[in-house]
Order: sequence, then structure tokens, then C-alpha cells
Amino acid sequence: MPTAPLIVDVDTGIDDALALLYLVASPDAEILTVASTGGNVPTAQVAANNLAWLDLCGRPDIEVTLGSAVPLVGDLRTTEDTHGPQGLGHAVLPVSSRPLAERSAAQAWVDEARSRPGEVTGLVTGPLTNLALALRIEPELPRLLRRLVIMGGAFNHPGNTTPKSEWNISVDPEAAKAVFDAFSDAPADRRPLVCPLDVTETIEMRPEHLRRLAVAAGSEPAELITAQDPPGTRSRTSNPVLRTLFDAIRFYLHFHDDHGQGFLAHMHDPFAAALALDPTWARTRPATVDVELDGTLTRGCTVADWHGMWGRDPNAEIAVAADPDAFFDHLVERIGPAVRHITPG
Ligand code: BDR
Ligand code: CA
Repeated sequence: MPTAPLIVDVDTGIDDALALLYLVASPDAEILTVASTGGNVPTAQVAANNLAWLDLCGRPDIEVTLGSAVPLVGDLRTTEDTHGPQGLGHAVLPVSSRPLAERSAAQAWVDEARSRPGEVTGLVTGPLTNLALALRIEPELPRLLRRLVIMGGAFNHPGNTTPKSEWNISVDPEAAKAVFDAFSDAPADRRPLVCPLDVTETIEMRPEHLRRLAVAAGSEPAELITAQDPPGTRSRTSNPVLRTLFDAIRFYLHFHDDHGQGFLAHMHDPFAAALALDPTWARTRPATVDVELDGTLTRGCTVADWHGMWGRDPNAEIAVAADPDAFFDHLVERIGPAVRHITPG
């Protein structure tokens, strides 16, 4: 099976953690490096989560780099109410004994893209800070990368951070604008594939998906998490990776429930990860994307010109539709059997 060499840039993050596990479980993914961006939790905590989670997932060989502690402009905002005190819900991971990479996240983007021109796919499931910094070092990145997949933005859909803006863009709008601007003259086949809330909020993970995952992994008991479980309930399932994952996702289910969305969890980042391996998971439309930096009510809002009204060429392919049931079948089939054989590092 041909493999996709990947730079994965995350703000882990419950759904980022599931995205990483999905990629680790994917024989067609070759993870070259994992970059840590501040977002859901501070950058150093993201990096600690990445190291410890990759260790648990049996991949202590994968390099983790540290990104910028702050966005391009202003202070970093984090969202522990969404992802838990350390970014992994109720799960508490041991501190990894291995060090972070010496090179920065931005430098890793540049080095890996230069080392295999036209081959490497970049996947960003956090703010675009590191990639924007990498573009300052190497403006040719849009032509060096094979493909870029971005989880971010909201177009014909409300925001999840402000009424009009999505979290990853809202944390560092200047970085997002720099990235979209950098792709303004990229060839059509190199345009970033943008995976916005319009689609990712249809990717609703439910407790039944987790139970199916346990069954597929032979992990017992194959629990069904419910909203009525006593506070403090923790997974007792035998597989250590799933036990940690379920403790993380339990928190995320309650977060969505508390915000009136039901006892489910939007799995934004795992879906973007699937697109990085196979763009046909979504139907896409070309558009010219720009980011509002100045609006008093709309800072961080992504605007798509679908009809060329600005007179500028498209700089993105935007995911507009997906098949969530098929995606969750795929996720269960991919992760379940793979975690049976994981030996934590
Ligand atoms: C994005 O925001 C983060 O909280 C999630 O990890 C995801 O990447 C969704 O808006
Ligand atoms: Ca994320």
C-alpha cells in the first residue's frame, strides 16, 4: 500500500488525540513529525500530551516538536473547559521520559517539506501559528508540499468560539490569513483542503461508536458510556489505549451535552486526518478564502468567495459534505484491530 508522508500539527486536545491514534493505526500513513501548537491548552502541555500519547500508542519513535508559546499577535487563549484541565478530558497520562526535538516546530515543517519536495502532506488540526512561522522561513512551502489539510473555519455555518468564528482560526487569525495568502497563487492541485465546522459538526461520535471500538479491539468490558453514569466514572475496559481514550472522550461528550448539542462529540480533527490520507472522504468546492482581522464582532471569521466576486483566484478547496456513518465505520475498522497489537512504549 502506498504511504503518505505526513507532517502533523496539533493542539492536543481530545479530538486531536483521536486523530493521532487514527493515523498511528493507518498503514497508509507515515508520520514524519508531530508539531505542538498552543490552542486547546498551552503549547508546553500540548507537547507533553503528544509525547505521552504517542508513547501509549506504541510510537515513542515519532519526533515531537515544540511550537510557539503565543500566536502571531497577542496572548494565547486556551479552552480547558472544552478539553479538560490538561487537554485530555478526565485522562491523566504519565509524563514521558523522552525529550522534545531540538528543532522548532516551524523548522521541522521546513526541513521535512524540503527533504521530499512534492511528496509530503501537511495536516493542521490546531491554530496555524507554526505553519505561518514556517512560511516566513520558506515561502515556497505551498509548492514544496504535496497537499495541505486544515481543520478550521466556518463558512455557511455558525462559529463555535464567537457567533461567526471557529476555534483554530480564532486563536490566531493573523496566522490563518498568512497561510491562505501564501496559497493565493498556488496551482489548483496544491490548494489547501479546508475542513470547516460546516462538515465537522456532522461528524457526531456517540457512545455506541466507542462501544463498537472496544468490541473491534477485543477490549472488555465493552462499556456503553451514558450521561447518567455517576460523576467520576472511569473506563474499566482492558485495552490501555482505549481506556485512556474513553476517559478523554467522556469529558468531551459531557461538554457537548452541557452546550445543548446532545450526548455526542464532534470529531473535527479525526475527520481532517482521514482527508489527509484520502481527500475523497469529502465533497469539496473551490473558493477564495480570507480571514477577518479587524471586525469588532467578526475577528477570526473565515469568509469564502464562492463566485469570484473579489476577482481573485481560488486559494482553497473547502469540504462541503461528508458521509459520517461511513467515516465512523472506517474509524472503528481501522483503530479497533490496530490497538489489539499496540505495546505502549
Ligand atoms: C477545533 O477546535 C479545537 O478545540 C478542536 O480540537 C478542533 O481542532 C474545532 O473548532
Ligand atoms: Ca485541535
